[in-house]
Amino acid sequence: MGHAADLRQEIEELSTSQIAEVYYAGKDHPRLLPFWFGEGDTPTPDFVKTAAIEAIRADKTYYVDDRGITPLREAIAAYVGRLHGRPLGIDRIQVTASGMSAVMMTMQAVAGPGDNVVYVAPVWPNIVEAVRIVGATPRPLVLDATADGGWRLDLQRLYAACDARTRAIFVASPGNPTGWMLTAAEIAEIIAFCRAKRIWLVVDAVYERLTYGLDRAPSPLDIAGPEDPVISLNSFSKAWAMTGWRLGWIVAPAWVNLNIRKLNQYNTSGAATFVQWAGVAALEQGEPFVAELRARLNRARDLVIQGLSRFPRVRVAAPPGAFYAFFRVDGMRDSMALAKRLVAETGVGLAPGSAFGPEGEGYMRFCYASSEARLSDALARMEPFLR
Ligand SMILES: Cc1ncc(COP(=O)(O)O)c(C=O)c1O
Repeated sequence: MGHAADLRQEIEELSTSQIAEVYYAGKDHPRLLPFWFGEGDTPTPDFVKTAAIEAIRADKTYYVDDRGITPLREAIAAYVGRLHGRPLGIDRIQVTASGMSAVMMTMQAVAGPGDNVVYVAPVWPNIVEAVRIVGATPRPLVLDATADGGWRLDLQRLYAACDARTRAIFVASPGNPTGWMLTAAEIAEIIAFCRAKRIWLVVDAVYERLTYGLDRAPSPLDIAGPEDPVISLNSFSKAWAMTGWRLGWIVAPAWVNLNIRKLNQYNTSGAATFVQWAGVAALEQGEPFVAELRARLNRARDLVIQGLSRFPRVRVAAPPGAFYAFFRVDGMRDSMALAKRLVAETGVGLAPGSAFGPEGEGYMRFCYASSEARLSDALARMEPFLR
């Protein structure tokens, strides 16, 4: 039977999450070991929880400034300025109700019907769907897989993918699912290209603190001036273990934020007030927690990459950032089928590579932000399937 009225076609054509499909197929396994979502098993630190509880008790429960509360914008500006060695004013900071909301509002601000957004793939699917929701065309620029299981960006192909209707280049760095990240030299080149072509460089930096070897990921904020066409998105989800709190921020030129502020008003009217106070605590007291998380992820990465490398059919390199092993399985052409079989028969829940676009087929994503005992257990259970 037909519907009584129509929706926008772009919305009906949006994908549903393939990760959720595996989750629903496997969530009731009696010995479930879930590594399918982009979050770890570490609870939010106590000092963040306490700050939120105290904020509620102190009646921080009213509407606030639609740019975000001033103490949080000040804390973000101080943090970002420290991290990138370049002081910046709070007029460059917009608080958002999650990294996802920052992605969506940035797309709404820069692109519309007839425009395109070039993005580095494979990538977290929400980014591609956000481009579609605003009516623009997502254009993948697929990273080259290197012989050792890593990834490389071909800048000439990136530039060639841009045309007169390209409004933004979107790069998640470090990337989800690959963990690949931009180098400082690549960033400088891309900014020069974007300046010349009047294209936005949008960098999703939600994993910028989760790096190995380097103290943090190189960022356009290290070199870009306040008027450069650069927008950087961030989130409290990953580095402060706050996925369910829904808090993020945007760093953009001040005049852009005058407009993002309006979008924030009309999309969400802002993050919950007491959650914003929890964000202040995360930034002001969170460095020891972030350091500990990084050390833990370092050990987890070694364990998982070494374990996976022992399977003859697996090709994988240690990612430079984020917390995923995105590994190729030789001879495997249906990652969704493998993900469902793995969880049904072993209880190990992974994300299928196809969830990250057609270029992810043949791969599986394993979020290793978990205890060493659980990771070792998972590797042992997976062995018969990957030998
Ligand atoms: C690349 C990337 N960007 C943004 C986000 C959004 O984070 P949140 O909406 O939880 O702040 C995620 C979460 O997985 C991500 O992987």
